[in-house]
Amino acid sequence: MIVEPKVKGFICTTAHPVGCETNVNRQIRYVKENGRMEGPKKVLVIGASTGYGLASRITAAFGLGAATIGVMFEKEASGKRTATPGYYNTKAFDEAAKREGLYAKSFNGDAFSAEVKEEVIQTIKQDLGQVDMVIYSLAAPRRTMADGTTYVSTLKTTGELFTEKSWNLQNNTVGEASISSATEEEIQATVKVMGGEDWMDWIDALAAADAIAKDAVTIAYSYIGPKLTYPVYHEGTIGMAKKHLKESADAITKKQTANGIKAYVSVNKALVTQASAAIPIVPLYFAVLYKVMKEKGIHEGCIEQMERLFKDKLFGTGGVLLSEDGMIHMDDWEMREDVQSEVMDIWRRIDSDNLFELSDINGYWEDFYHMFGFKFPEVDYTADVMV
Ligand code: NAI
Repeated sequence: MIVEPKVKGFICTTAHPVGCETNVNRQIRYVKENGRMEGPKKVLVIGASTGYGLASRITAAFGLGAATIGVMFEKEASGKRTATPGYYNTKAFDEAAKREGLYAKSFNGDAFSAEVKEEVIQTIKQDLGQVDMVIYSLAAPRRTMADGTTYVSTLKTTGELFTEKSWNLQNNTVGEASISSATEEEIQATVKVMGGEDWMDWIDALAAADAIAKDAVTIAYSYIGPKLTYPVYHEGTIGMAKKHLKESADAITKKQTANGIKAYVSVNKALVTQASAAIPIVPLYFAVLYKVMKEKGIHEGCIEQMERLFKDKLFGTGGVLLSEDGMIHMDDWEMREDVQSEVMDIWRRIDSDNLFELSDINGYWEDFYHMFGFKFPEVDYTADVMV
């Protein structure tokens, strides 16, 4: 079958198997070129198939030489429908790990469920004994509880209606978008899905089964960003969930004191992923940020962020590098004073006429298409492929 991109708004409904493999192999090459590092050797990654989780798994395997177990929620191909990118990415990762003699097992199922937790823990016990690192990188739209109740996360403000400049991705114009305020119920539901409760459940279950080593580390990812996006992110429903994530990290560390297990939150850079492309207003900020950071030579993608996280801020000679707020900051370059003041200057001036000149729209789309395995020059998109 010849696979072409089918873009609908902020999502592409097709994925190219060879392109996704290329995407994974490019990331593996980057990590290998940067050399081996010391650190954990048995790593569980929850949310391991795309974005930050995939980059973390690649860094663990090819940077640390670790055995990895990945959990993800992806769709297989059926009939003329391609699989989701994370499905192809995982297949490509598993094959590459095997070629390298690295243990890799992947579980495609609902990480929130007790069944998947149980299955993963059994495999850890059988194959690895224990894990010494757990990366929690889920970005999910909903969570179904054991009793069948489903919570849905929303992207709304927690204050008044918020209106800001926004880029219309359909016709490349700059207009305005408004984000309505969430009800208390919507806030609580978003915290249920994107907060730290399930992360805590995973660590509790691993510890109860003696499947996590003493002195293991666990990490989850957060975002803060500039004041400009506070109403939609940091102070929005998702920000409330991220606040809960940090509280959960502290609660895990406290609860696991006797085991010496430490939980951290890393505040990462804003990047185009399937999860972040869905957030209103944010894509225009991304496009402006990309332009400024690329011009300064400090732009990073998921793999550069995760490689630097492991090498410099988690397992470097200085140990875990925490900022005053008790979190690791991989957004250090994004939030640099000179970067933010240029971004804000552009933000004030940007409109439909100068959109391409003042922001990196093409860079945004390049990242977007790459996520789905498209627009890699080394891939022959006219060739027939098995989906
Ligand atoms: P993503 O959409 O690329 O990845 C999400 C992962 O979660 C995928 O592997 C997916 O299969 C998995 N997943 C979703 N629901 C699942 C379920 N029920 N069971 C098992 N797996 C499931 O998202 P991204 O952007 O990499 O996000 C990961 C984390 O990083 C999130 O906590 C996000 O808030 C955080 N983050 C993202 C930033 C960004 O700009 N993209 C910036 C800073 C933090």
